[in-house]
Amino acid sequence: MPDDGTASVLMTMTRDQLHATAIRYFKTAGPTEPEVALVERDGHRVVFKDYGRGQGWFARLVAPVLIWREASALEALASLPGVPRLIRRVDARGVLIEYCPAVPWGQARPADAAYARLSALVAEIHARGIAHGDLRGGGNFLVDDSGQPYVVDFVARVRRGRTWNIGWNWLFAQFVGADDSALAKLRVKHAPHLATAADRARLARRGPLERLARTIGETVRRLTRQFASRD
Ligand SMILES: Nc1ncnc2c1ncn2[C@@H]1O[C@H](COP(=O)(O)OP(=O)(O)O)[C@@H](O)[C@H]1O
Ligand SMILES: [Mg+2]
Repeated sequence: MPDDGTASVLMTMTRDQLHATAIRYFKTAGPTEPEVALVERDGHRVVFKDYGRGQGWFARLVAPVLIWREASALEALASLPGVPRLIRRVDARGVLIEYCPAVPWGQARPADAAYARLSALVAEIHARGIAHGDLRGGGNFLVDDSGQPYVVDFVARVRRGRTWNIGWNWLFAQFVGADDSALAKLRVKHAPHLATAADRARLARRGPLERLARTIGETVRRLTRQFASRD
């Protein structure tokens, strides 16, 4: 956001005002899902990711943890082109994020060079000590008309641990591997001419650890949904 004062009102708007100014929702709320709104004010566009209008224990107890996870990852990745800037923590349940003028990867027909730029971006995110952890579905990869890739949605991220923390760093490496598998999957699906033999082998292999991690993730999500729907 340019520092010209015109959009400074975005820094003080309340939750209700932000929702009233939304021009589009990328996503409407579910029991365990945020609302993700595109807010426009004085020609400035920002994204409002918000669990704040949810009811029940998920919105009360879990949402602040998820928002903290997202915001802290965006801070750790600040000024990396392709990762949106954290603009403002509205409160414990909502954040304002820089708008990436882009569309989900599967809706675009990115040039080959965009795939290389995306791999470099994900490698840089890893180099800064963050594994994304939720790239497999492809919905968190965006790309603009010029082929600039973006990565959004850092709720599932894992941070690299201290050197001595071998167990944690093993977990971090699994998440880095899952991110790399997601890139392989993207190539195989949308740009098969760019997929290498290693990409295909990687997807076929999908070791027991990755399967276990997926099963745990899916079970947790299912249980969370069931419990949340009881509120
Ligand atoms: N900063 C952003 N700029 C542009 N679009 C975004 C941005 N953040 C999210 N989106 C869009 O909104 C969708 C949902 O947001 P996301 O953060 O992925 O929510 P969720 O955690 O519920 O998946 C994304 O898949 C993307 O299409
Ligand atoms: Mg997402």
